[in-house]
Amino acid sequence: MHMLDDESALPAVLQGRRWRELDIYEAPDWYDVDYAGYRGEEAFYRLILERCVKDGRLVVELGAGTGRLALRFASAGFRVHAVEPAPAMRAHLLTKARAAGLSDAARFSVEDAVAATFAPPDPPALVMFPFNGLLHLRTMEELLASFAHVRAQLAPDGRFAIDCTGPYWDAMLFGPTAWGRADERVHHTSGALVHTCDRCAYDSATRQMRIDIRYLLDGHDEGVQIELRQTMWTWQQVLGALVRAGFVIEQQLGDVDLAPFDEGSPRLLVCAAIAPGR
Ligand SMILES: C[S@@+](CC[C@H](N)C(=O)[O-])C[C@H]1O[C@@H](n2cnc3c(N)ncnc32)[C@H](O)[C@@H]1O
Repeated sequence: MHMLDDESALPAVLQGRRWRELDIYEAPDWYDVDYAGYRGEEAFYRLILERCVKDGRLVVELGAGTGRLALRFASAGFRVHAVEPAPAMRAHLLTKARAAGLSDAARFSVEDAVAATFAPPDPPALVMFPFNGLLHLRTMEELLASFAHVRAQLAPDGRFAIDCTGPYWDAMLFGPTAWGRADERVHHTSGALVHTCDRCAYDSATRQMRIDIRYLLDGHDEGVQIELRQTMWTWQQVLGALVRAGFVIEQQLGDVDLAPFDEGSPRLLVCAAIAPGR
């Protein structure tokens, strides 16, 4: 048995089950089990929205997912254009938007595109790429092309805001981890008990971290195993790519509580403006 498949550290409820394997963005309902209720970085974006987005100007969310932020900001009255490439996430987002009464396309629109290709209905006052979205960009060329495309779409006084985690240095240094970190969740719609665990492996050639997460509804024999791949960008690479793409850093914070940024910060939150003369 490969050490990654070792389940011996898990509680009995998570051992010897059958698993249906999916990419994370093929499983929007399971995405919401972990994240629908998470509000961490919302205050950061809300403060930028209140400061920079006036008079019905447009906000774009890149990688809007199931609408965790986009739907809240649209419901608060902001005009939101949600960009989401994964069909299942987009379908889930549209269902939730209808349920929230966001049926006026002039106020809430959804586009099947990526950060390097999106076409907003008018130049946005704010483009945001939250919650590790940019860790899905796999190469420096893609990162730069995405940031340059954002700059080209923005209104001249527009802002670009991002937040992402730093590299998972421990997992990168100490090698793959077998199944562990067993935990429990409450299903966000049914209230059912969900058992969860994960494992990870880093490929230094591609700088991709692969994280597998299992979810098992209590009392069931078969669960889902979702795969998440993220590029381990360093802070310096992200900040450098912003500058190379024509931005100046206006605000740089180190966590969702708006703590100042330093090299030991758990997250990087940035609000950038278009550099003068670019
Ligand atoms: C971590 S989720 C964040 C979802 C949502 N913004 C949130 O805060 O819950 C990242 C999202 O980015 C999307 N995505 C992946 N590659 C992308 C790209 N190149 N451009 C834009 N979005 C992308 C994924 O499909 C996924 O829905």
